[in-house]
Amino acid sequence: MREGANTPAPDGAGQQRPRHVAIIMDGNGRWASERGMSRTKGHQAGVEAVRRCVKAAADRDIEYVTLFSFSSENWVRPQSEIADLFSLLRRFIRKDLAELHKEGIRIRIIGRRDKVPDDIVRMLDEAEALTRDNTRFNLVIAFNYGARAEIADAAKRAAEAVLKGAIRPQDIDENSFERFLDTDGIPDPDLLIRTSGEHRISNFLLWQCAYAEFVFLPGYWPDFDAAMLDEALGEYANRKRRFGGIAARAEG
Ligand code: IPE
Ligand code: IPE
Ligand code: MG
Repeated sequence: MREGANTPAPDGAGQQRPRHVAIIMDGNGRWASERGMSRTKGHQAGVEAVRRCVKAAADRDIEYVTLFSFSSENWVRPQSEIADLFSLLRRFIRKDLAELHKEGIRIRIIGRRDKVPDDIVRMLDEAEALTRDNTRFNLVIAFNYGARAEIADAAKRAAEAVLKGAIRPQDIDENSFERFLDTDGIPDPDLLIRTSGEHRISNFLLWQCAYAEFVFLPGYWPDFDAAMLDEALGEYANRKRRFGGIAARAEG
């Protein structure tokens, strides 16, 4: 179940601040090709942007950041690019896990583990287990993630729970269903950022973003830095969230 209400905390200046920021990190390939570089170089630069993003978000007292790192649709890319992306993930976990743990960051992985190489599954499990008790900041990595697959898997788990007699069909509603999603225990994103100027959700967190504010930044992901995060936070601060009501609400 959810960890408490989905309440965006106001910062020191009384600005509306998101508790959870979800990011579609897009534009690595275009960033590289505009520089006459390989797509691999773009993904490498994207990892540096991940490091800047985590630091900037934690410094700004954001509690959760979810990063879309590999979608269930990305399997259609050339095998060599998929292999590069997986190698970068391996290297990121090998190089950064100890530091992230030292910084008090809890890591959670969402997405299907099928088709993912065994050594990566082990690394992801280890990252989650090592950081399980950390509370300063939550880094959620969406890897081999697709929202429709997540919702279908959740429906399957709910059906299995009914078959086992653990719940009754009439117990299933939009609150109880959430515990079957990969994001069980994680509050809904308040702010969804997509870089690279694309204005679409690409099968990311369809359930969870029901009331997220969307900010589309024109810059490519490898250029993401604290200033780009602040731009998105500034836009978020001016949004009037109504949640179906008639007056803006600071609370979810
Ligand atoms: C985002 O950058 C990274 C992943 C989807 C893994 P892209 O690789 O999609 O870059 P563009 O969109 O082709 O520029
Ligand atoms: C979304 O980006 C997936 C990730 C950022 C991992 P894509 O580049 O795959 O999305 P589309 O294909 O342009 O919609
Ligand atoms: Mg893309």
